[in-house]
Order: sequence, then structure tokens, then C-alpha cells
Amino acid sequence: MGEYSTQFARANSYTARAFAKVNLHLAVGPARADGFHELVTIFQSLDLSDTVRLSVVDSSTDSESESGDPASQVHSLVVTGNDCAAVPTDSSNLAWQAVDAVADALRAAHGIELALPQVAVAIEKSIPVAGGMAGGSADAAAALRAANALFADHAGVAELDENVVHELAAQLGSDIPFCLHGHTALGQGRGEKLHGVPTVGTFCWALVAHEQGLSTPRVFGVFDELSEHGPQSQALAQDKACATYPSPEETRKLAAALQEGNVQRVAGLLRNDLQAAAVHVRPDLREVLRVGIQAGALTGIVSGSGPTCAFLCTDVATARQVTREVEKTIAGTRGIVATSPAGRAELIEN
Ligand code: C5P
Repeated sequence: MGEYSTQFARANSYTARAFAKVNLHLAVGPARADGFHELVTIFQSLDLSDTVRLSVVDSSTDSESESGDPASQVHSLVVTGNDCAAVPTDSSNLAWQAVDAVADALRAAHGIELALPQVAVAIEKSIPVAGGMAGGSADAAAALRAANALFADHAGVAELDENVVHELAAQLGSDIPFCLHGHTALGQGRGEKLHGVPTVGTFCWALVAHEQGLSTPRVFGVFDELSEHGPQSQALAQDKACATYPSPEETRKLAAALQEGNVQRVAGLLRNDLQAAAVHVRPDLREVLRVGIQAGALTGIVSGSGPTCAFLCTDVATARQVTREVEKTIAGTRGIVATSPAGRAELIEN
């Protein structure tokens, strides 16, 4: 019976979900020779997730692959849900690249001739797009999990080890390892070197997304300009006020506050070195932060490279009040109430 089920009970579709992140502490160092910045960050996952479904395409009956690339395992990619029109549906999508990365790694592990099916990728979005909340990275993390399960199942081989999946994630993007890991973690290097941070309790957030996204490379570029020219220009110097290099002492204090579950102390220790750059590109975010804090949040910061602003609140009712107030006052904003920490990227029922 056991043998029968492993041989024939192949699922033709696997679905995984992965969660958004907020950086509670994001200390950014200077650009490295490879163009990336050395980070010290504490990430926390939020219970706001995207799902990625992979379905086997029957090559004998289904239409020709949309990829146009015979080497790709991806037949087609569709995106539904929030902001879906802004998400690429070609091989520039990180979820697409994740599927092919898993196929390549399985072939490297089990033999180049491994027969793998083509898959249709369907992404359902709830995480704001280009919002500084790792939406694209979450989709890639979910795609890694689903592709690993589906391809191993269909080829009748062992799944890739977790450390190999983590390695693929790091090659695809700096935030993808954290989206695989979830919960709360200290991130170093580009953000891909992770250590879990124990936390107590649940934190409530009012997230304010904006219809106009921000490009992460652009925000890092402005961060570099502010670091170079800050003291010479008053406006730049003002925006740069909180930008300093990574400080392990502050990170330790925040980790201790998280371990105590002390929301007031956590609020006092939130920090984002990219905030000055994000606000420099998008001065309207100052008003979002002002209105959200005035509406009752303990504090508010730009999430990652922005433009989403994350307001830490004492409870869900206050978080709802904050989202209502900001949506009412500032055009183009969308409020989401979420709690943290959430879990790792994982397979779910179809
Ligand atoms: O790794 P990922 O592709 O998500 O990074 C997107 C961009 O963000 C990079 O091309 C780089 O410009 C910037 N970045 C950075 N330093 C990091 C992470 C990202 O400069 N640690």
C-alpha cells in the first residue's frame, strides 16, 4: 500500500504561501564592491500573505509554452489580486526564476536527464507591490517550496534539502531567505544571513500602502547620495538625520525587548536607515507618518525601502483607527491591519 501510494499519488498541483515582512530595525552600511549594502536588520513576518499555485501542464494537450524558452519549466504565469497589473508575468518575475532554479538544482542533484513537467504558475497577491514589504520575495519563497514538492514528487526523487533551498533563495534576492524562514530573524550580509530571534506575544500593525510603488535600487541609490553629500546640503542633511552605520548595541536592545514582548520598548527602538532616502524621494510620506502617529499609533516607520508605512499599535482596534484616519486624510493610500510574527513559507491545501 505504501509503495502504491508513493508511486501513483502524484498531485498535479501544489500551492504554497509566504508572508510579508517588516524591518523593525534596518541599519545600512556603505555600498560594497558588488553594489549591495551591508545590513544589520531584524525582520519580522506579518500575517499578510501571497499564494503561489503550480499546476502541471499536460504537454500532449495544452497550448504551446508562453515562455518561448524550451529550457524553462514554466509554461505560463498569471497574477491576480491587489495591484496585480503592476506585476510582471514573464521570466523577470522572481517566482518564475524560483521554479527554474529548483528544476536546475534537482537536475544537478539527481542527474541531468531528470524528466520534469512544465508548470503553470498562478500568483494571488495580497501583499502590496513595490511596497517595501518583500511581496516579490514572498512569491519567490512560496514558488521555491511548491516547485521543490511538485518536481520531487513527479520525478520520484528526494526534495532538495532546506539549506540548498536557502542557498537558491539567497541567489535570487536578498529578502527571499527571510521569507522562507519567517517568524523573527536577525539578518546580516545583504540580509540573507539569518539567525532566529525569539519573541514573546503578538504585535499589531496598521500598514499604509500607497498606489504608487517605490523602486528599491532607487532608494538605495538615494541613500548613497545622502551619505556622500549630506553635510553639504541642508535639505539632504535633514533627511539624513537618522542614517548611521550598523550598531550591534541597538540591535541587541531590540532583540531583548522582543524577547520580553514589551511593545512600548519595541516601539522606542524601531529604526530604518532607508527612511530618510524614501522620504527624500517621496516627501508625501512625512504626512502619512504624521497622520498615523496622531491617530494613536505608538510610532510609525517606513517599511524597508517604502513607500508602505508601518505603524505599531497597542491593539487591533487602534490599528483600525489609524488605517481609517490615514485613508480618509491622504488620497491614494490603502490601510491593512496585520499582526506579527507570522510563520515560514509553507505548502497549503490547494
Ligand atoms: O537582492 P534584491 O534583488 O532584492 O535587491 C534589489 C536591489 O536593492 C539591489 O539591486 C540593490 O540595488 C539593492 N540592495 C542593496 N543592498 C542590499 C539589498 C538590496 O543595495 N543589502
